[in-house]
Amino acid sequence: NTQVKKVDAMHPDMDIMREAGEIIRQGGLVGFPTETVYGLGADALLPEGAKRIYAAKGRPSDNPLIVHIADFEALKKITSYIPPQAKALADAFWPGPLTMIFQKSDAVPYETTGGLDTVAVRMPSHPTALALIREGGGYIAAPSANTSGRPSPTLAEHVYEDLKGKIPMILDGGAVGIGIESTIIDLSEEIPMILRPGYITKEMLSEVIGEVKDDPGFASADPNVHPKAPGMKYRHYAPKANLTIVSGEAGAVIERINALTQEHQQKGEKVGIICTDESRSQYVGDVIKSTGSRQDEDSIAQHLYAILRDFDDMDVDVIFSESFATPRIGHAIMNRLLKAAGHQVIEV
Ligand code: TXA
Ligand code: MG
Repeated sequence: NTQVKKVDAMHPDMDIMREAGEIIRQGGLVGFPTETVYGLGADALLPEGAKRIYAAKGRPSDNPLIVHIADFEALKKITSYIPPQAKALADAFWPGPLTMIFQKSDAVPYETTGGLDTVAVRMPSHPTALALIREGGGYIAAPSANTSGRPSPTLAEHVYEDLKGKIPMILDGGAVGIGIESTIIDLSEEIPMILRPGYITKEMLSEVIGEVKDDPGFASADPNVHPKAPGMKYRHYAPKANLTIVSGEAGAVIERINALTQEHQQKGEKVGIICTDESRSQYVGDVIKSTGSRQDEDSIAQHLYAILRDFDDMDVDVIFSESFATPRIGHAIMNRLLKAAGHQVIEV
């Protein structure tokens, strides 16, 4: 039986937080909001905690977890070396949606790191997440709180949908702010390397530590090019309906999606469309979903996963999506969308 506790995201009720922290200390699991997506938390220093996470998510146990901390000092116990660049990045972006990879100390069990000698660490900015970390003993391992293979949850309802009956508690702090997972950076390379793109962009990182490169593995459609973050090798999420991205000048995209829609409707298929407020009224699909205004990149990131989930609950046969290669976080958004589409793109 899973209890869902509503919390004021900015000022969570401390009685609830102590109760949630107690579950974590006992080795149990709690679903909780962060500023990126909802996480599924366990004590990162207890091997049983990580094992329960893998079991609840149905996640392969070679896919390491991110350890969440509430203050910079906490890094010392779980890492064996803190490079100067990490301090600079922490000063600039922590608390916030940035995860850094460190050499781990003996305090971190291999269950948490999927057998690796490195550990991924993030200090979230969400007050409920910070309170849970403090009440739970200071170190919370947390992947996104979805069943493996589904989109990451951006609402407590998504967590409930995937994990009801499998975890004792979900903290419901409402919709998350960002909507896509944290940026992951590996500082062990000669040139620091982004393992997963996110809200903190390459440009933002470069301003603090100089040259930064992308892991060629995360963006590749080629299954033989292996990403360095083990989790980025999984297809991650494939919608039930076949998803294709149509990319190009706005008018041409609308025209092509409408032509494709008619083709599929003539075969008796139901067509879903992912678009923006600006183009919405011009489509003829069966289910049309907008990510918000094209001018508002943040809104696109916030709504994308929920839209993909919604389509899984409806019996559409094919989905066509506009491309969202917007200036700042478009790179991170397209990384998720391209994977969901299995890299099927029509250029018009
Ligand atoms: O925004 C986020 O990061 C969310 C919230 C809950 O904080 N968490 C999240 O966790 O996205 P998860 O487990 O869904 O994704 C973690 C990613 C995986 O791709 C994993 O392979 C990678 O981080 N990772 C973890 N530890 C690593 C390590 N030591 N070396 C390389 N990649 C690592
Ligand atoms: Mg995940």
